[in-house]
Amino acid sequence: MKQDLLDGEWVYKEENYRRAFELIDRYVDAFADGLSSGRSIRAEEIDVKRVLLLGIGGSGIVCDVVAEILSSRGIVTHVSKEYTAPPGEWDLIIAISYSGNTSETLNSLLQFLDQEDKIVAVTSNGRLARLGEKLGIKVVKVRSGIPPRYAFPDMLGGILGYLEKLGLDFAKMNLEEIKEFQEGLKKDKRIDENPAKEAAVKISKSHPIIYVYREVRLPGYRLKCELNENAKVFCHYAEIPEALHNDIEAIPRNGLMIIPRSFREPYEISKTIEALSRLLGEEKSLELRARSKSYLEEIIELFMLSDYISLYTSVLRGVNPLILHRIERLKDINAAYHEIKRRLDEELG
Ligand code: F6R
Repeated sequence: MKQDLLDGEWVYKEENYRRAFELIDRYVDAFADGLSSGRSIRAEEIDVKRVLLLGIGGSGIVCDVVAEILSSRGIVTHVSKEYTAPPGEWDLIIAISYSGNTSETLNSLLQFLDQEDKIVAVTSNGRLARLGEKLGIKVVKVRSGIPPRYAFPDMLGGILGYLEKLGLDFAKMNLEEIKEFQEGLKKDKRIDENPAKEAAVKISKSHPIIYVYREVRLPGYRLKCELNENAKVFCHYAEIPEALHNDIEAIPRNGLMIIPRSFREPYEISKTIEALSRLLGEEKSLELRARSKSYLEEIIELFMLSDYISLYTSVLRGVNPLILHRIERLKDINAAYHEIKRRLDEELG
């Protein structure tokens, strides 16, 4: 059977799978490396009340997570994934672009170059790093040479490490517990005791429909993006309870409802999910659970679970999880991209 593929050793010897799994198996160490990189940046404690975050795609989701963490402390945040950012008074402007060359992020940042002391950038290289050098902007450097989405733990660690220097200490986590959770997702854990493999088998036979509620919006969105980019699977994503007032009338015959669950889930949402899976049939739904009962650890575990699911799905579909066919090509042929880079190169001299 095709699912036996996931327990076979030979499949992971294929270079692309070997490399992709090697990258996500380093999740916790990559996060720790990011943390020390962020902590090494010079900074004084400041009173941070309003934060703007710029970043898109695999870097944008790091902005989303950081914004959620900051908001939980009463800090006003705005994540911009556009070509321009809302003007205004910000205490801190965080620009994240793994490649350092993403035009939406760079163009938005151009608006704020006269406030360079408020900016911190996270990148592996590119124009963002050069801008940092030229203007004296603080830059948290992360390891280079990997696809941006695989650098999620590095970039998250990087910015949390820097925020810690500003007096915003969020990074205290039990990394050993997260590592233990990860052991249960790795390729040598057999399918009957590996929730990531089990989920991939179900997803590869269906049309995935990810339903999220506020507490799990980001891990659900991560799963959508990782299924798109790593497994090349088109997948639906919607928020409940709203989607239960429209979307559910149109669920396709082979639809599989995937819902990340959280220990922070409100009572009403739990009851609603229960009713929904009764309505659709248990076999049409899939729940994703972390083990930790602490906010940031749970988010990281759910992200990790999503990443493994996407890689196992790529194996079952026989696609390359490292290569993107359209995203970079579109950047190449987009005139707006070239125009922004030209303006930035003028700035860089
Ligand atoms: C590629 C990926 C993309 C990029 C996005 C922005 O792995 O995940 O979504 O993250 O195109 O590029 P960066 O992250 O370099 O700013």
